[in-house]
Amino acid sequence: MLRVEEIEVFYDSIQALRNVSFEVKEGEIFALLGANGAGKTTTLKTISGLIIPRRGRIYFQEEDITFLPIQERVKRGISQVPEGRRVFSKLTVEENLLLGGYIRERGIKKNLEAVFSLFPILKERLHQPAGTLSGGEQQMLSIARALMTEPRLLLLDEPSLGLAPLLVRDIFHYIKEINEEGVTILLVEQNAHMALQIANRAALLQRGEVVLQGKAEDLRDMESIKSAYLGG
Ligand SMILES: Nc1ncnc2c1ncn2[C@@H]1O[C@H](COP(=O)(O)OP(=O)(O)O)[C@@H](O)[C@H]1O
Ligand SMILES: [Mg+2]
Repeated sequence: MLRVEEIEVFYDSIQALRNVSFEVKEGEIFALLGANGAGKTTTLKTISGLIIPRRGRIYFQEEDITFLPIQERVKRGISQVPEGRRVFSKLTVEENLLLGGYIRERGIKKNLEAVFSLFPILKERLHQPAGTLSGGEQQMLSIARALMTEPRLLLLDEPSLGLAPLLVRDIFHYIKEINEEGVTILLVEQNAHMALQIANRAALLQRGEVVLQGKAEDLRDMESIKSAYLGG
């Protein structure tokens, strides 16, 4: 579904991504793992169109999207949930959702219903400013807003960051549920332990390079991953 081919990204003269390649297959959960600063967010931004790579190509459903504007990528079904659950805190939950939904105007009602059946709490909080929600609820809203665009590929940037362990479990459960409803997922995480439990395949980024990739179960068993990322 998505093919990232030998991308190189620079911030001024500093190289953030070196020759990064991987593929996400339709229907799977693909985890992109790595420590802080490894280049995970940069990779997602290059896929969603916030960053244009200096070299390399990105293909989505066999189409070269490397230079497509962000909105065109959203229309084709790529939606990003940014790091740090950036909701519009002064706007209500409903307004946040409608902002996500405008690109699929005719689907708004249906998409709202789908989002409420996944996250019933958002329906209860509909007219509350998003800034008054808890961290976990804001993360749900941030994911829900992305779902309003009817994504085929959902890019999730560290959805578990800063959440209490119980909420982390909830969020991962929701991610699995969204995937089971047919949305392909590219999940960026420092929390390799949780990510490898729900992912089909994964890649590990280190200082802007993919140093490992394979089936999630194989990565789970690797000593190098265990010692560096799984605390064992
Ligand atoms: N806007 C920016 N300007 C300059 N350097 C940046 C910028 N964003 C990220 N970087 C650098 O690029 C590297 C990768 O960052 P990032 O993709 O955010 O990593 P991760 O998401 O894995 O923590 C880091 O060294 C980071 O400091
Ligand atoms: Mg990041």
